[in-house]
Parts: sequence; structure tokens; C-alpha cells
Amino acid sequence: MKKDTVIATAGRDPLNNHGVVNPPVYHASTITFPSLEIFQKRDKTVHTGVSYGRSGTPTQFAFEAAITAVHEGHKTVAYPSGLAAITGAATTFLQNGDHLLMADTVYGPSRGRLAGIALARAGVETTFYDPAIGAGIADLIRPNTKVIFMESPGSLSFEMMDVPAVTAIARDKGVLTMIDNTWSSPYLCQPINLGVDVVIEACTKYVVGHSDVMMGSVTVNTEEHFQALKNMANAYGYHAAPDDCYLALRGLRTISVRLQRHQENAMKVATWLHARPEIERVLYPALPDDPGHELWKRDHAGASGLFGIVMAGGDWNAGAAMIDGLEHFGLGASWGGYESLILPAHIENIRTATDWPYTTPCIRLHIGLEDPDDLIADLEAGLARYKAAS
Ligand SMILES: Cc1ncc(COP(=O)(O)O)c(C=O)c1O
Repeated sequence: MKKDTVIATAGRDPLNNHGVVNPPVYHASTITFPSLEIFQKRDKTVHTGVSYGRSGTPTQFAFEAAITAVHEGHKTVAYPSGLAAITGAATTFLQNGDHLLMADTVYGPSRGRLAGIALARAGVETTFYDPAIGAGIADLIRPNTKVIFMESPGSLSFEMMDVPAVTAIARDKGVLTMIDNTWSSPYLCQPINLGVDVVIEACTKYVVGHSDVMMGSVTVNTEEHFQALKNMANAYGYHAAPDDCYLALRGLRTISVRLQRHQENAMKVATWLHARPEIERVLYPALPDDPGHELWKRDHAGASGLFGIVMAGGDWNAGAAMIDGLEHFGLGASWGGYESLILPAHIENIRTATDWPYTTPCIRLHIGLEDPDDLIADLEAGLARYKAAS
């Protein structure tokens, strides 16, 4: 089956749901059993593996099956948020005394909250690396290096990584690889086919697509990795709520058409910004002169609607004048919904392995499904306010 057909069909079972097209929402904590013998054996053939609400309902299993199918993986575990998925994956495969290699470009809380707090307290040491490292990652691998964590492109600075170059080295040295694939979503990139072992999605973004649900997923390629993930998810009591699984699965059904439009709109806006004298650089690997363009083209089926701009001069007072007057861009965290968003990106305060070469404001834009001409007119007025305040 081709990808669009998988997206439209995976996880559905109308014949066993009275013909209903979408898998229904099963709300459950208690699951009852017909006999003591069956209860004590937790016989997996009874209730098709459902044993307690916290460890999953048929709604969750349908969502997980669909994500697995799109990723061409073995199995998936659903999590209550993208960050829970990142933490769930990392704490499954790392323990006291281990060493983690993490790209300098990762999502802020992966770095600050997971590596900086949770893993540090558990006795896991993290080294941040230049995302352009490629096969050079070999030089950073120590005897106790257990995981290499990637994000490509990074969701603030949009640098691409040579993922197959890293996974080839990691395989050779017996190190597990993980990627935060949220910018691409399962629709635009299937990292298991690039050699990645553990694929994380913040489904809150493009999978859900409507800015109204928090969800995450982790897809792996072996039963051993799945069992390890599921055991740890059960140990922490992670629970993906049935209504959220339902909405995420419903979102997935339309991801192809939404992402095609996000890309079309984002390319139009990014190309317009690229030609403006107020802009030093547009950070978007889909643009032909972006340093990551060739890697993006090689590994991705398209681009999402998230990119950055570096201003050619001015400061955050001018940034405030621009942002505060915008009509169509909401100011707020997250992205991947149908609407446009804007966010200041203080990359200079985050990185440690590499220098951020710009001192002027960097701003992240999520281009939604509005008419791009309206977005451009809004940004044009914003740039005029920026210039006047500089
Ligand atoms: C790249 C990336 N990964 C993970 C997350 C975390 O997802 P969630 O907000 O669902 O916890 C985010 C959220 O903004 C993100 O941008």
C-alpha cells in the first residue's frame, strides 16, 4: 500500500465495530474477567490484550497501530504528550552510569528538563554535539555511550543532520539511536528507513493538527525494544487518554492534505521573506540555498510549515513592535495546528557545543492554513513597524 492509503486505513476495524468507520472511544479503568483462572493468567487472548485502562484500550491500540504502519515500524507506544514520549524513550534505554550524545539543536525541554534534570539526577551524563557532525560522531562515542539523540531539522534553528551517516556509525558501535521527528511528522519522514532505532513524535503538532490535544508516540523496530518501552511506560504509569487517542487518530487521517497546504503556504511566505531587506536569513531547509537543503531533499518527502527568520538589524524592542501588532499570527508555544503562530527564538542562550553566529532577533513562524497573501500582508506591516522601531 502507498503511504496515503495507509494513512486512510491503518488502525480501522469496522467489521468488529458494528460497521462504524472510526475506532470507537473506550473509556475504561476496570476491565472485568469471566473467571478467576483467566484473571490470574491475564490471558492475552481474552479481551484482545486489554487488562487495565492505564495500560491501554482498543482506542489507544488503534492509534498505535496506525502510527506504526505509517512509520513502517514494528510497534508503537502512545504517551500523554510529546515530552512524555521523549522522557519515556530516554529513561527506557538509559540508566545510571550511561552516557548520552544529544544534538545541540534539540527542543529546549529535551535538553533542559530531560538531560539537565531527570537524566542528570539518574546519573546519566550528556554531551551535546554539533548537528553538522555526520560520521564525526564516532569521535564522541565512549565505552559507556548508550544513546545518540537527534532532531533533524532542529525545531528552533532548522539545521539538518546527516541521519544515515550517524546511524551507520551507531550500528557499528552498538549504540542505540533516537530521533525527535516532530518537524517532519510521520508523513514527511520515516526515520526507521534511515536506520534509526527509536522514533519519537510530539503528535500534539501535525498528527493532531488542531491545537487541542496533547499526545506523543514512540515507534520502534523490534519486539525487544517495544517490550522495554511498554514496561517502563507501565512503571511510570503513563496513560494516553482514550479521547485524545481518538482525536489524534482522526487528525492523522487528514495529515497528507494539511501538510501539503502548510508546505505550499510556508514556501510562499518564506520565499517572500527571503527577498526582504529587513531579513538576514530565512532558516528553512526547503529553500534551495539553505545549507541543509540537499540532506532535506534526500531524506524527506516534503517540508512542514515551521521555519525561522533572523532579522538584519534591530533588537527585541523592534521585535515587540512587530509581533504585538500582528493580526493573523498568535503568539504562543507549540505549532502544527491549522493556524499561524509566532514565537521569539533565543537560540544564543541555549547552545553549548556550537556558537550561534547572530546577535539580532531570531523569530520562529508557523505558517497555517490561512490564505498566504493575508499572512504576507500582515508580516509586511509588521516589518514596517520593526523598521520604524529600530
Ligand atoms: C520538536 C518538539 N518536540 C517535542 C515537543 C514536545 O511536545 P509536547 O508539547 O506535546 O510535550 C515539542 C513541543 O513544542 C517540540 O517542538
